[in-house]
Amino acid sequence: MLSKYFKPALLKSIADKIGTPTYVYSEAVFLKQVRAYKKAFAGLDPLFCYAMKANSTGALCALAAKEGWGADVVSGGELHRALRAGFKPGKIIFSGVGKTPEELALALKAGILFINAESFEEVLELERVAAKLNLRAPVSLRINPDVDPHTHKYISTGLLGSKFGVSFDEALKIYIYAAESRHLKPVGAQFHIGSQVHSAAPYALAAGRLAAFMVKLASRGVNLKYADVGGGWGVKEGGEMADPSSLAKAVGGVFGGTGLKLVLEPGRSVAAPCGLLLASVIYRKTGGKKNFIIADAAMNDLVRPALYGAKHPAALIGRGRGPAKRWDIVGPVCESGDFLAEGVTLPEPAPGQLLAVYSAGAYGFSMSSQYNSRPRAAEALLTGPASWRLIRRRETYADLVAAEVKP
Ligand SMILES: Cc1ncc(COP(=O)(O)O)c(C=O)c1O
Repeated sequence: MLSKYFKPALLKSIADKIGTPTYVYSEAVFLKQVRAYKKAFAGLDPLFCYAMKANSTGALCALAAKEGWGADVVSGGELHRALRAGFKPGKIIFSGVGKTPEELALALKAGILFINAESFEEVLELERVAAKLNLRAPVSLRINPDVDPHTHKYISTGLLGSKFGVSFDEALKIYIYAAESRHLKPVGAQFHIGSQVHSAAPYALAAGRLAAFMVKLASRGVNLKYADVGGGWGVKEGGEMADPSSLAKAVGGVFGGTGLKLVLEPGRSVAAPCGLLLASVIYRKTGGKKNFIIADAAMNDLVRPALYGAKHPAALIGRGRGPAKRWDIVGPVCESGDFLAEGVTLPEPAPGQLLAVYSAGAYGFSMSSQYNSRPRAAEALLTGPASWRLIRRRETYADLVAAEVKP
């Protein structure tokens, strides 16, 4: 159970000092995942590029950087954050289907490891940008291996018909073009089949297809250095990371001993278990068809339940009263989709009581918004069994209008 890493007394002291809603992360749990990956892949010596979109808060990124990880960024903003958090430029890769010329220029000027391009037009743009800067852009192509990862359709990305990547046929043409360009240097090939993937089998299938393609490419004179198998490894029901050994076996079975440098882009599996969303009960509403706990955290803080039907374990901090009942934990936002957890069995909480929504470290804060003009939550990091620090202050009403021109 994840709750064992988050002691109630510590959560209470955080709530007393900085209020709720607050994202609380555990340094120890974050590092546990990072080290589990390193151990599982020890024989393969891969480059891990933490997918910052899962959680780009500086303090967590800095932990990954200190462990020797690189970063997978998907925007100029994430690149800015990655450099600020201490990731080495030579360990940063840039993914995403619509990078602008300005973003490509930023990445090239920073000297990142490679750009995962997703279309011929992007490669042509990259060539123009590199020519202007008078350098050769290291490029990898995101290839769509047409593999079903069996996950939610919004996070399934590796089937033909998705907006991501290019087909093997298209990739062949692009590599041959790039290999002849003075301003492009083909260095790698990548796939990312989706997120919250629970079986290594689709990775083995996609890796096999990519490896066969790389052999074909080599026969046409294009030799790549990096085989990037993306991210997507899932967290189990209950919120902990699934053991990545089977993933290591699947991709190692294909790329081990080939001389290619393996690259992985894990996000969710590293960040999700390390964080919870700490909220306070505002009201209870009973007597109708359903029982509701109305909390001070809402879909603007954690959109995953509304967006993907994600189920997060939730629990009261401290004891409730009376026999357990089924509750929907909802927020104050004016949307029926505003729920954090549905049908949770809990005793009755008192108003003001704390509750925790677990496994919320990934795609929680990073997807949060100010919807309903709700300032974004604070973030705190547990640094030891009895210590914590603020890593992002709660936004204020002034923050809500800071970028607006005064009416
Ligand atoms: C290109 C790419 N790499 C890595 C990831 C990280 O996936 P996850 O957080 O599921 O590990 C994503 C997520 O969408 C992605 O699009």
